[in-house]
Amino acid sequence: MKICIIYHSETGNTHHVAQHIASAFDAQLVEVTDTASYNRLTRFFVLCKMARCEEKTLIEPASVDISGYDLIVFGSPVWAFKPTPVIHAIIDGLKGCMGKPAVAFLTHGGRPGQSDETFKKWIEERGMVPVAITDIHCTDIENEKTTKDLIALVQSSIKV
Ligand SMILES: Cc1cc2nc3c(=O)[nH]c(=O)nc-3n(C[C@H](O)[C@H](O)[C@H](O)COP(=O)(O)O)c2cc1C
Repeated sequence: MKICIIYHSETGNTHHVAQHIASAFDAQLVEVTDTASYNRLTRFFVLCKMARCEEKTLIEPASVDISGYDLIVFGSPVWAFKPTPVIHAIIDGLKGCMGKPAVAFLTHGGRPGQSDETFKKWIEERGMVPVAITDIHCTDIENEKTTKDLIALVQSSIKV
């Protein structure tokens, strides 16, 4: 069973969770970053507006070929109650994704809003099958039970 974890993380929380899953399953980790430049003063508001409007941004890598994997795990922070423009852009840029089962997780500060349903919609739009979507409060990132639960969720998605 080959698992590819594709994630975006600005301040490390989502990265941390992605690493836990990667270690548990010996999975491939792909970090996607934003290559656009932003004004330092307006950055937060611009990013929130882009996320809220479900926009995409310039990313590196621009595309990932996932045809060789059996399960894809997406990880994203919540921005303005949605997954980020980075994760939206990479979902849009995937190659070989048709029919692939996908698990998604979000990390957030307490108000995930419409992130789950938005993630599900983007995954389905690319012809993938959303098997499970979950969110994790940033204060639970180091919580052993949260990590175990997430690993169990991925494990159960393998059997689907
Ligand atoms: C631009 C921005 C917008 C955010 N919007 C939300 C939000 O709407 N709801 C929420 O619960 N947390 C929000 N947060 C907090 C992040 O979702 C949370 O800290 C997350 O774990 C960060 O992940 P990272 O460390 O992987 O970047 C926001 C953070 C940023 C920087």
